[in-house]
Amino acid sequence: MNILVTGSNGQLGSEIKDVAASYKSFRFFFMDLPALDICNSSELDIFIAKNKIDTVINCAAYTAVDAAEENAVIAEQVNGAGVLNLVHALAKVKGKLIHISTDYVFDGNGFLPYQESDKTNPMGVYGKTKRNGELAVINGDIDGIVIRTSWLYSAYGTNFVKTMRRLGKERNKLDVIYDQLGTPTNASDLAKTCLDILAFSKETNINAKGNIYHYSNEGVASWYDFAKAIMELGKIDCEVIPIETKDYPTAAKRPHFSVLNKAKIKNDFEIEIPYWRASLAQCISKLNQE
Ligand SMILES: NC(=O)c1ccc[n+]([C@@H]2O[C@H](COP(=O)([O-])OP(=O)(O)OC[C@H]3O[C@@H](n4cnc5c(N)ncnc54)[C@H](OP(=O)(O)O)[C@@H]3O)[C@@H](O)[C@H]2O)c1
Repeated sequence: MNILVTGSNGQLGSEIKDVAASYKSFRFFFMDLPALDICNSSELDIFIAKNKIDTVINCAAYTAVDAAEENAVIAEQVNGAGVLNLVHALAKVKGKLIHISTDYVFDGNGFLPYQESDKTNPMGVYGKTKRNGELAVINGDIDGIVIRTSWLYSAYGTNFVKTMRRLGKERNKLDVIYDQLGTPTNASDLAKTCLDILAFSKETNINAKGNIYHYSNEGVASWYDFAKAIMELGKIDCEVIPIETKDYPTAAKRPHFSVLNKAKIKNDFEIEIPYWRASLAQCISKLNQE
């Protein structure tokens, strides 16, 4: 299998690089801007043909949730049109696609973990453009799946864990929202899951074409719980104070509840998912070694 990982310098792409060596039967091509832009369809076609790519894991995305409210055109170019370019390019070579999407396609008004078939209703530009990317994959004539994930963090890039650690070392107290519930996801676990799915599908010939799957770590947390765990596990002496969403206004509205039901991915691909605190501890121990 010749696997192109797009957006490979981001959190998820970097974690795939870290685990790639364990998947000996795969040959990887890690590409990001400016060398390979998913918005440039001819560049994509040429790269895929030249390197005989048969599979793409699309980690490329416009992920600045608040900035997207002001930059809707560029967010749509990457998260919507860029994904359609990948679908068209892969259709020409009968290739496979794993595309990553988000819990922000939901409005968060539910109170039970979201299933893949639940109605989407994104509240902001980022979520709307990511939903357009999902539609490009599920309506495309390719062997493609969408994996929705939530609250992604990693030892790489900028994310909640790294921001809390930095602020926690600078300040005695931190206000963090307690009325938004979801599940943190260690990008390292998602990276392994993407590659395990490809290996499993190859072995079993399972046809998941056009399916959506949910993946996060196990359990439920508020951002407050998440921040408390980051301080405790990192042994950072900073008091975390619970506040309400209304006291921390942001440009984009976020779902109050975006816990994902992961039964389908566990059943179809025999995936085991770690508890969010255990995975967080692993990331923090990696960060502590730096
Ligand atoms: N982060 C989260 O909390 C979260 C939550 C749920 C779902 N997700 C989804 O998970 C996936 C991975 O997220 P992540 O956190 O790893 O994202 P990330 O760290 O922001 O990485 C995205 C990468 O894509 C690159 N990129 C942007 N536009 C591109 C283009 N036109 N062509 C090629 N590459 C491009 C970015 O480059 P630049 O940095 O130069 O722009 C960056 O290296 C995304 O689909 C995201 O929507 C993320």
